[in-house]
Amino acid sequence: MLKPPIAAHFNLQSYNTFGIATHAKRFVAIDCFESLRSVLLAEEKNSPRFILGGGSNILLTQDFPGLVMRMEIMGKRIVARDDTVTIVEAGAGENWHEFVRWTLDQGLAGLENLSLIPGTVGAAPIQNIGAYGVEMKDTFQSLIAIDVSDGSLKTFNREECEFAYRDSVFKDGLKDRYVITQASFCLPHKVRLHLDYGEVRTELSHMNISEPRSLDVSNAVCNIRKRKLPDPTVIGNAGSFFKNPIVERDVLTRIQTHHAQVPHYAAPDNKAKLAAGWLIEQCGWKGKSIGHAGVHEQHALVLVNRGGATGTELLALARAIQTSVMEKFGVALEPEPKII
Ligand code: EPU
Repeated sequence: MLKPPIAAHFNLQSYNTFGIATHAKRFVAIDCFESLRSVLLAEEKNSPRFILGGGSNILLTQDFPGLVMRMEIMGKRIVARDDTVTIVEAGAGENWHEFVRWTLDQGLAGLENLSLIPGTVGAAPIQNIGAYGVEMKDTFQSLIAIDVSDGSLKTFNREECEFAYRDSVFKDGLKDRYVITQASFCLPHKVRLHLDYGEVRTELSHMNISEPRSLDVSNAVCNIRKRKLPDPTVIGNAGSFFKNPIVERDVLTRIQTHHAQVPHYAAPDNKAKLAAGWLIEQCGWKGKSIGHAGVHEQHALVLVNRGGATGTELLALARAIQTSVMEKFGVALEPEPKII
């Protein structure tokens, strides 16, 4: 197998949804497992490299001094089916939303609440993407990844991925050790729709749908997301810039003494998950800007590139927001995108 061509001084502006113009020292598009292995094995062991999916969860703050590998392994297929479930599989380079809609076209349910999440299938397990009361881990079956040190393949089941809220072993213990090449999902035939989060039910009733099917839920989620979240093709952004912080109960109680209406959700270990967007809005940041970096007018959790912003400007805005939230609420906000 031939090694794919490697480009030098490659402009990444159209490869990250913030639309930031930085360059990769070297760049290669990977469209099959063999190419990936040959590129990995030809690289110096400790040379800087990173895998780029849809570029929807990264903040580029400088030129990248090594090799950027853009994941373009495609393919979607039904792997197995029995009376109760269907297993589907997709290449890591597939667009996540197109994959979700493809499953719906096959008459399969389970991923509808995750419609319109930007990014690729291969990136989805890394941060266990989630929306509207559903996380990717709920239907995840397994993934195949290549070990960057020796090019060998490993299959990870759900337990081995150690999924948690916007987290997995690929962000922690095995960070930068594996490249995901495909993922599979187990979709049950007995449909259980999740309609209780936020505005999903209200949106369905606005659509005059009283007995929703999974496709209707997908359409409702798309409507909500299009209304609230800026389209990265129109205004650069990476979705939620911070994770919703998980805090001890006494922190929630302390905040409630001054702000009885603070939105919060139950989290594991009797903790509470706070809405970072609300905390940021309370600090007066919604709609504000520093230089070319801004806080979205409709959703304070989304930082936007108002045109020509650098990663450093966006990072400065993020730091200023973290400081405000810490000073006002004593709560630390952790960025969701990978900062490079
Ligand atoms: N809120 C405000 N002000 C704001 C934004 C939100 O007060 O400017 C309040 C809302 O009124 C609501 C609460 O905060 O009471 C939660 O807001 P929302 O339902 O919009 O969800 P979120 O917690 O801000 C999370 C995910 C989103 C996902 C939505 C829907 C994280 C970090 N973000 O946002 O995921 O779409 O729930 O499930 O968990 C992403 O990760 O990029 C993303 C967009």
